[in-house]
This record gives sequence, C-alpha cells and structure tokens, in this order.
Amino acid sequence: MIRSPKTPEEWDSYYDLRYIILREPWNQARGSERNEGDETAKHLAFFDNESIIGVGRLDLMPNNIGQIRFMAVSNHQQGKGVGKNLMLHMESMAKEENCNEIILHAREIALPFYEKLDYTVVEKSHLLFNEIQHYLMRKKI
Ligand SMILES: CC(C)(COP(=O)(O)OP(=O)(O)OC[C@H]1O[C@@H](n2cnc3c(N)ncnc32)[C@H](O)[C@@H]1OP(=O)(O)O)[C@@H](O)C(=O)NCCC(=O)NCCS
Repeated sequence: MIRSPKTPEEWDSYYDLRYIILREPWNQARGSERNEGDETAKHLAFFDNESIIGVGRLDLMPNNIGQIRFMAVSNHQQGKGVGKNLMLHMESMAKEENCNEIILHAREIALPFYEKLDYTVVEKSHLLFNEIQHYLMRKKI
C-alpha cells in the first residue's frame, strides 16, 4: 500500500529509511536526511504490511512543476517494482495538483531507473558529498 506516513512511529521509519539509504553509507550525521522543505512537501511511503520499504517526496514548485526528491527503497527490496510504483503515485499526485512537468536530480547510478520511466537528462547538476554526480532530469506529464 502507498500512502503518507501518519503516526509518529511511521514518520520515524520514513525518515530512518531515507537516512539508511541516502545518508548513512556516506557517513553523514543523523538529521542530514531532513530539510526545511519537509514541512510543506507531500510524502509517500510504500508499506509492506506494517513496514516502510520505500519512500519519496513530492515538492510543488512554481509554474506547475513538481519536483521529486529523496527517493529510496530498502536495500533488500530493490529491483521489485517498489520504486516504480512510488514514482507513478507521485506523478498522479502531481497531476492532481495541476503540474504538467516533473523534475528531479538523479544520482548517476539511478539514471537508468528514471530513463525507464521516461525521464530525460537536461544537464549535469550538483556533486553531492564531493562524489555523487547528479543529473537534472525532466518529464512532461
Ligand atoms: C533507485 C531506486 C529508487 C529504484 O527503486 P527500485 O524499487 O529498486 O526500482 P524498481 O524495481 O521499481 O525498478 C523499475 C525498473 O528500473 C530498473 N532499475 C532500477 N534501478 C536500476 C538501476 N540502478 N540500474 C538499471 N536499472 C534499474 C529495474 O530493473 C526495473 O526495470 P523493469 O521495469 O524493466 O523491470 C532504488 O533502487 C534505490 O533506492 N536505490 C538506492 C538509492 C538511490 O540511488 N536513490 C535514488 C536517488 S536519485
């Protein structure tokens, strides 16, 4: 099931998964997985029974653009369609909010994942933690 976390425990596991997948392998501090945008963003979690095994965030930007951020799927659950399902849900959510385009900054390693979902590279963007090259991608929806 895909929905926003609700209880304090669900929010803890939502941010835990972000931390474990996107921050901990690069020795980043706890808390670095969050930012001020979390207050206003839309959050989606993929639930496997009670456990959260995938997460993603949708930011509503000016000019009917949605930005997807902090996509992460639990290590042992990758490659089973969880990420794709989360992406499709966020795209529907963005459409409901009148967005006509999605942008995101993809890690180099994840480019094929987004390309399969019809995102195209616009340009090279930032280098995270001095090593993870990102690429700005977009898709009309
Ligand atoms: C990238 C990530 C979100 C993808 O989620 P996932 O659940 O593993 O991906 P899915 O199983 O939904 O994959 C959908 C399709 O993309 C392909 N795919 C997924 N990751 C891929 C990769 N790194 N390289 C090549 N293909 C990939 C799958 O094979 C699948 O193809 P299919 O539809 O032909 O079967 C997830 O693997 C992850 O969290 N990785 C580590 C963190 C990360 O890099 N996050 C993205 C930050 S921008």
